[in-house]
Amino acid sequence: PDESGHMMTLIPFKGHYFGSPQFNEEALLNMDEFPLREDDIVLCSYPKSGCHWVWDIIHILVAGKIPSDEEIIDKEAFMMEWQPSISYDSLPSPRVLNNHMTFNMQPRDLLAKKVKTVFIYRNFKDVAVSFYHHHTGIHDYEYNGDFGSHLKRWVAGLTDSGSPFIYTQGWEKAIADHPELPVFMSSYEDLKESNLEEVRRLSQFLGFSYPDDFLKQVCDITDFSTMKARKGDKSFKNKQGQPVMYRKGQVGDWKNEFTVAQNEWFDEVIEREMAGSKLTFKYTL
Ligand code: A3P
Repeated sequence: PDESGHMMTLIPFKGHYFGSPQFNEEALLNMDEFPLREDDIVLCSYPKSGCHWVWDIIHILVAGKIPSDEEIIDKEAFMMEWQPSISYDSLPSPRVLNNHMTFNMQPRDLLAKKVKTVFIYRNFKDVAVSFYHHHTGIHDYEYNGDFGSHLKRWVAGLTDSGSPFIYTQGWEKAIADHPELPVFMSSYEDLKESNLEEVRRLSQFLGFSYPDDFLKQVCDITDFSTMKARKGDKSFKNKQGQPVMYRKGQVGDWKNEFTVAQNEWFDEVIEREMAGSKLTFKYTL
């Protein structure tokens, strides 16, 4: 229980917590041995950092065309923690997979085969708010705490996916330590602020050289309101009947949730927990 007395259902694993019944024990136990292919693309992010957005962008870039509603591919069906690797064996190359795991939980093949890795991060305050709504909105977590209690729980790593600071620092260090691993790194805020430039950079990283008018179409079709209108109705709903993955899609919504005291405290937490990090976090645009 947290300080408001509310519980959250969590599954401990390798010093980490998973909080959703979809996590598959066999998949997790065998993750080291997950056979990746040289031409796989693995999208990695802490939850609520823009994974669905970038997932859709990558798929359109790989397909080379704007998808019809039926052709939009559901990210959840390709989460490496949710199904044993055999489930992905019959997929044609290049496979696009995704996960929310720390670097040290990634399959050995990621480094061994130098698999293209897309790493997306987001400012901690917006993630805090987005994740709070995620945990209180999804029935399976059975969580009803208030924002302040959730924030403390999250900082302590006692939520789904564990500490955001350990996750982010671990990835930052691994990327610096392994220059041989091809990594595209961007942030939710840079994707918002410099949408076309970031999508062009991602496209080049994946080995494509599309003209700007196609890349502009990719930006338009993956824009929050367009995607919400196309996918929101069909996607997973929270207790209030709203789509879980399409909430506000803004930079700076944290200002509507944090009190002044919470914000001051959280600034100190970030400074302490991210000491030494060279990543830039934009809390407002
Ligand atoms: P908010 O809760 O702040 O609105 P993830 O996909 O990693 O789970 O992240 C979910 C967050 O990204 C949610 O943030 C969601 O609304 C936002 N989001 C989803 N699709 C988006 C898109 N196409 N463009 C921008 N933000 C998007």
